[in-house]
Amino acid sequence: GADPEGDVERVLFDKEELARKCAELGAAISADFSGGEDVPLLVGVLNGAAVFMADLMRYITVPIEIRLADFISVSSYGKGAVSGELYFRKDVTLELQNRRVIVVEDIVDTGKTLNAIMESFSARGATSVTVCALLDKVARRTAPVDVKYKGFDCPNEFVIGYGIDYAERYRNLPYVAALKHTVYE
Ligand code: PRP
Ligand code: MN
Ligand code: MG
Repeated sequence: GADPEGDVERVLFDKEELARKCAELGAAISADFSGGEDVPLLVGVLNGAAVFMADLMRYITVPIEIRLADFISVSSYGKGAVSGELYFRKDVTLELQNRRVIVVEDIVDTGKTLNAIMESFSARGATSVTVCALLDKVARRTAPVDVKYKGFDCPNEFVIGYGIDYAERYRNLPYVAALKHTVYE
C-alpha cells in the first residue's frame, strides 16, 4: 500500500487482515442483534472511526439504522486533559430512549472517550450501549470500557492509518501501521 510520506515504521494490520476482521465483527454483531423489536442504531465516533465504520457496516446483515450525519465527536478540555473532562463537540440529534446503540471506534486508548460516550448515552435512556472497536490499546487504559466487539489488541505504539491520524495526516493509509519515532520526537 501507499506510504506517500515515507513515515511508516512497519505495517501492523494490512488490508486483507482488516477486511477479514470487519467480516468477523460484522457477523458477530449480526448474530447478536438479530431480532428484537427496535432496530439497533450504529453510531461512529469522528474522525477516526469513519473508515472502519464504512467497512464494518457492509458486513452487518441485520436491519440497522445508520445516520451518517449523526456521528459524534468528543474532545477534551484543554491540552493534556489532566482533568479527563470531555465535551461533545458534535452529538447525535436522535432520541436514544429505549434504543440499542452500537458505538463504533477505531481505537480505545485511555478509554476516556468511550467511557464518556457510554455514560452519556446510558443517561439518555438507551437500552444498551455496546462498543465495537477495531483496536484496543489495553496498556494505556485509565477509564473502564467494556469492549464487546474488539478487532485487535494494539501494541503501545503510535499507530496511524485506516482512519487514524497523527496531526490529521495518514488517515488515508489502507492499513494500520506504527509511525516512525522520528516523526513525533
Ligand atoms: C482518538 C481515537 C479515539 C480516541 C481514543 O481520537 O480515534 O476516538 O482518541 O482515546 P481515549 O481512549 O484516550 O479517549 P482523537 O481524539 O485523536 O480524535 P480523531 O478521531 O478526530 O483523530
Ligand atoms: Mn477518535
Ligand atoms: Mg486523532
